[in-house]
Amino acid sequence: MATTTKKKLPLFPLISLLSFTSIFYLLSQFRNTSSSSSIKAFSSIHNFQIDNNRHRRGSCDYSDGIWIYDESRVSRYDSNCKEIFKGWNCVKGNKANGVEVAKWRWKSNGCGELDRFDPLRFLQTHTHTSIGFVGDSLNRNMFVSLFCTLRSSISDGQVKKWRPAGADRGFTFLTYNLTIAYHRTNLLARYGRWSASENGGALETLGFKEGYRVDVDVPDSTWVQAANFHDILIFNTGHWWWAPSKFDPVNSPMLFFKNGQPVIPPLRPDQGLDMVLEHMKAYVEEKARPGAVKFFRTQSPRHFEGGDWDQGGSCQRDQPLSAEQVEELFSVKNNGTNVEVRLVNEHLNKALKGSSFVILNITYLSELRADAHPASAGGKKHDDCMHWCLPGITDTWNDLFVEHLNSIEHRS
Ligand SMILES: *[C@@H]1O[C@H](CO)[C@@H](O)[C@H](O)[C@H]1NC(C)=O
Ligand SMILES: *[C@@H]1O[C@H](CO)[C@@H](O)[C@H](O)[C@H]1NC(C)=O
Ligand SMILES: *[C@@H]1O[C@H](CO)[C@@H](O)[C@H](O)[C@H]1NC(C)=O
Repeated sequence: MATTTKKKLPLFPLISLLSFTSIFYLLSQFRNTSSSSSIKAFSSIHNFQIDNNRHRRGSCDYSDGIWIYDESRVSRYDSNCKEIFKGWNCVKGNKANGVEVAKWRWKSNGCGELDRFDPLRFLQTHTHTSIGFVGDSLNRNMFVSLFCTLRSSISDGQVKKWRPAGADRGFTFLTYNLTIAYHRTNLLARYGRWSASENGGALETLGFKEGYRVDVDVPDSTWVQAANFHDILIFNTGHWWWAPSKFDPVNSPMLFFKNGQPVIPPLRPDQGLDMVLEHMKAYVEEKARPGAVKFFRTQSPRHFEGGDWDQGGSCQRDQPLSAEQVEELFSVKNNGTNVEVRLVNEHLNKALKGSSFVILNITYLSELRADAHPASAGGKKHDDCMHWCLPGITDTWNDLFVEHLNSIEHRS
């Protein structure tokens, strides 16, 4: 800590995505992955039973519940899926519990067990459909999970890799004409470096010299076309709003602009988040295709213990937390290292209330899973207690996403 405070801290692991993205592109020319027929057979039978009950499950709340260990549970894809980012591949990175991570089932208090969706059936029932993930690297983690799950259910050679509507990455499952894409954006709104102008201005008068200009009413260019391209959208934002190592409140603060003019008096980041959510919500509601289904995913928790990511914090647990431990770690009044998760959610709730967005509430089920981050897998300098192992719990996020989607489609 002491040696790094003077220098500008790299925002690990957030920033790692930025620098890795280009390398990753070179390395990850799409190669076919093999699928497991036994997994397919299992999930087909499994899903048949779900569908019979679906009409009764429309407005279920899966957000609260418990994880149940299931020795016999086999992931629908394995660590050979080429889309898995190296740092998230806990099996290949030799994490001690790398395989165990995916052996837990989510049982909700409200609706019983969350079933796993059947990937082949999903492809068959969502032909000519495009699904866009828009957000930070945690949404990419979820996108990769969906890709690997779908990819495992089909034979080789039927997937086209491309970048739909300016996406960072994307694939079309050709036989079904189902497209999935990931649009990378940290704040949803456009932002970039700002320096004081010699000609002065409102911010210069207040003494600002350097910072980041955040245009609260301008969508990031990476997804500006996504809103009316995809039939199904899944948004998130959060981690970067509580990231003082990049948006240092003194040396490189966020400076909010609206209608091209600085907002005066300057806003705190959490106030800026409210403005961004307001404007981005309105933008999507205006641009989205008729009948589009729009999800907003709640904040994904980090599990740094013993300090933050740059203070030697780690996540060495191999079991989920108890409900009591979760409260200790995450309750806002305890103001611990990972307190931002519930703070972000308060802002999301406020902004999305009464909107047409469906809230995909993965927070609590993820808060329990201190065991499911890559930690030091693959030999990292700092533990990654923010992203998730794949296979892992973003598979469950997708089960929840498909469950919500099915209940919406069944209603309409
Ligand atoms: C998400 O679900 C948890 C558990 O039911 C609940 O406590 C929390 O308020 C929900 N959060 C949001 C943003 O809806
Ligand atoms: C494929 O699906 C997209 C929607 O995602 C649709 O616009 C397009 O027309 C479809 N293509 C064909 C050949 O059916
Ligand atoms: C929470 O803790 C941080 C230091 O970890 C401190 O800077 C901040 O003021 C605290 N916030 C509140 C509301 O107590």
